[in-house]
Amino acid sequence: MGQGVAEHSLSGANEPSSHPLVNFQVAQPLTFPSSLNKCTVEVIHHNFANSYYQPAIAEWKPPKDCGSPLDWVGVSGNYTATSNGTQYDRLSAITFRNVEIWRTSTAEPSPSGIVWTALKDISHYLPLFSTPGRIILDLNNVVDPAHGIDGEYDVTFSITVYASPKEKGGARSNGIVALGTLSPDQAGYAGVPPMLNTTVKLPRNTVEAYAEIYASGNAQEEFWYFNAPDSWIPALPKDTTLGKGPFREVQLLVDGQLAGFVSPYPILFTGANVPLIWRPASAYGAFDQPTYKVDLTPFVPILADGKNHTVTINVVSAEPDHTILGNWWVSGNIQVVLDPSEKPTKGLIMRYFASPYATSHISGIKHKKSGDVNITVTAEHSLQIEAVLLTGSGTTSTVAWEQSYSFSNTQSYIDNATYQVGEVSSTCRLCSLAQSADRSRDRSPEVGAARS
Ligand SMILES: *[C@@H]1O[C@H](CO)[C@@H](O)[C@H](O)[C@H]1NC(C)=O
Ligand SMILES: *[C@@H]1O[C@H](CO)[C@@H](O)[C@H](O)[C@H]1NC(C)=O
Ligand SMILES: *[C@@H]1O[C@H](CO)[C@@H](O)[C@H](O)[C@H]1NC(C)=O
Ligand SMILES: *[C@@H]1O[C@H](CO)[C@@H](O)[C@H](O)[C@H]1NC(C)=O
Ligand SMILES: *[C@@H]1O[C@H](CO)[C@@H](O)[C@H](O)[C@H]1NC(C)=O
Repeated sequence: MGQGVAEHSLSGANEPSSHPLVNFQVAQPLTFPSSLNKCTVEVIHHNFANSYYQPAIAEWKPPKDCGSPLDWVGVSGNYTATSNGTQYDRLSAITFRNVEIWRTSTAEPSPSGIVWTALKDISHYLPLFSTPGRIILDLNNVVDPAHGIDGEYDVTFSITVYASPKEKGGARSNGIVALGTLSPDQAGYAGVPPMLNTTVKLPRNTVEAYAEIYASGNAQEEFWYFNAPDSWIPALPKDTTLGKGPFREVQLLVDGQLAGFVSPYPILFTGANVPLIWRPASAYGAFDQPTYKVDLTPFVPILADGKNHTVTINVVSAEPDHTILGNWWVSGNIQVVLDPSEKPTKGLIMRYFASPYATSHISGIKHKKSGDVNITVTAEHSLQIEAVLLTGSGTTSTVAWEQSYSFSNTQSYIDNATYQVGEVSSTCRLCSLAQSADRSRDRSPEVGAARS
């Protein structure tokens, strides 16, 4: 997207309609009960023309007409945009108090205009909304009529809070720690490489910690699943595809030690391959990119010891040196649950099993007569971390985070690579467990078995 890479844009000429076309992404509807009181605040209304590194900035003030923030049980966002003309799809994100809360991209406009609305339940960021703070909405756009790129994006972003006079505190977590640039006036996401390091210090009475990761491949990494291993590039006609192979793993590390990993979902933006396919319905994730969860609770004995720690988000390949091309945009946050006692949590990591990188295998074959090339990359990775925690309130529990997956990508380059077939399969298993004296439970409703 955007930065420095030629890609398809959509001119959309010959469209008869004088009304703007309504674009959309299929998404789960908001599910807030109608019995709740709600207050909507228009936070940002901004036109993005030449807007590289010129985000819209607004100061959030909790609305006064929806009762005390302690009575709020949910919050949602409304990202509505219009555009006329010709333009590429552009990445856009919303960063609130340094925490990225929404990663989206734009629909490609047409001369007669388009409009789309994306709604998102952002209740898991509720702890951020109870006090004032800065909201940054970035959308790096370029307008260059001489080259036929004239579409501006007119974006309205509003926030709705939901209050219940009966229920107290919908937020499960008590605090959110940002992983990102921590910039006061720019987006929270950073480009990888290099790896993103954030210094964090969790409250000493932390009893649970969950990381959420945002990651999307951009420029030479946008279609990473079609990249070929460096060792096979010479077997293909020049400029057929990019290198570093088709395997990517997003890693989360604590002080350099692997704490979790993610097999990222390939999002097709509205300019991908044949842009007309994505009008009016964009692909899954284009307007609300999926995020990934890692249960960091087994690392609480380290992260809550009162000292600074380095939390790293990195993206690696299955090449011998694990390097990638440029680039991935990454950020994240750690949601923490605190013990009511306010006394420090004690604990120890009892079991740590993880290799720093996936075990991978690259194989291929070049047909002697036809010159057809088939390449297969497989990878497997697993991790098990277990800790014992003693909370300030006196509860002892065993907590564990386990992950495993297997990955396979086969590419066929047929007829001098004029015909290309790719098949990707990735299966993963996640398990987040806590066991105290007499019960065992799956703690995090948002972390479960996933299969794609
Ligand atoms: C979303 O915001 C747009 C623009 O402010 C508004 O027209 C639309 O009604 C809103 N949609 C919902 C469901 O609130
Ligand atoms: C698109 O054109 C319509 C009608 O001409 C106008 O109302 C709207 O503001 C334009 N939008 C943008 C983003 O230029
Ligand atoms: C990030 O931190 C690690 C240690 O955890 C260090 O080895 C690495 O050089 C740092 N990278 C950057 C880009 O700061
Ligand atoms: C901990 O990190 C913060 C933020 O980066 C820094 O200001 C502080 O000096 C660090 N403290 C120590 C003891 O290194
Ligand atoms: C490559 O894979 C295709 C299936 O995609 C298969 O039909 C073909 O025989 C394979 N070619 C070689 C050289 O193995």
